[in-house]
Amino acid sequence: MKIIIVKDSQQGGKAAFNIFAAALKKGARVFGLATGSTPLTTYQELVNSDLDFAQAISINLDEYVGLKADDPRSYHAYMQKKLFNFKKFKHSFLPQGDAADEQVEIERYNQVLTAHPIDLQLLGIGQNGHIGFNEPGSSFAEKTRKVALTNSTIEANSRFFENAAEVPRFAYSMGIGSILQAKQILLEAFGTNKAVAVAKMIQGPVTTACPASALQEHPNVTVILDQAAAANL
Ligand code: GLP
Repeated sequence: MKIIIVKDSQQGGKAAFNIFAAALKKGARVFGLATGSTPLTTYQELVNSDLDFAQAISINLDEYVGLKADDPRSYHAYMQKKLFNFKKFKHSFLPQGDAADEQVEIERYNQVLTAHPIDLQLLGIGQNGHIGFNEPGSSFAEKTRKVALTNSTIEANSRFFENAAEVPRFAYSMGIGSILQAKQILLEAFGTNKAVAVAKMIQGPVTTACPASALQEHPNVTVILDQAAAANL
């Protein structure tokens, strides 16, 4: 793992932008994208840039089960608001939260991933070490599936909802197996509340108890941390 420590999330966004720009220049055309607070500075840098994604494809990690694409709390809506309204991709894939048939939707998404191998996958990390919505205990071999969110994730994500009771209990998420297929992985973490998970991811044993520790087994991972998130290293 290559570790880049920056002053704050603004600098982190710039460092991540440089990695996106270099990948695009080298011919990367499929970008795996993430949601949450962490990638916001990266998306802002992309939006402010002249990088052209018109020939590129984006594939998002996850979506809440039950939310329609136009629900403002959905990850569809997040991506529109933070990136897609400003940067056009040739095609953008996300799991369909309100799909009528869950099994068909999971199969569709796995086919999308097979047809479009990811060149660069952007990730954040949950306080419990989750990546995507792969909670502790998830097998490292899993592909896209429906997952139950843990109480700590529901609590952490309740800031985007009226209250914790409103947070969907399930999500569709690319599995750790799908994530590890990406040619290059870029994980960002900012803030003190990520320091414990970051140390486990980088220095701890490779264990399903910390899903992000699976990244130790990938040959091309860059981690961008601010000083607070790097504090326990
Ligand atoms: C969410 C998302 C993850 C994200 C993580 C951290 O639950 N499913 O993809 O990386 O939690 O979120 P944040 O960046 O807001 O701290």
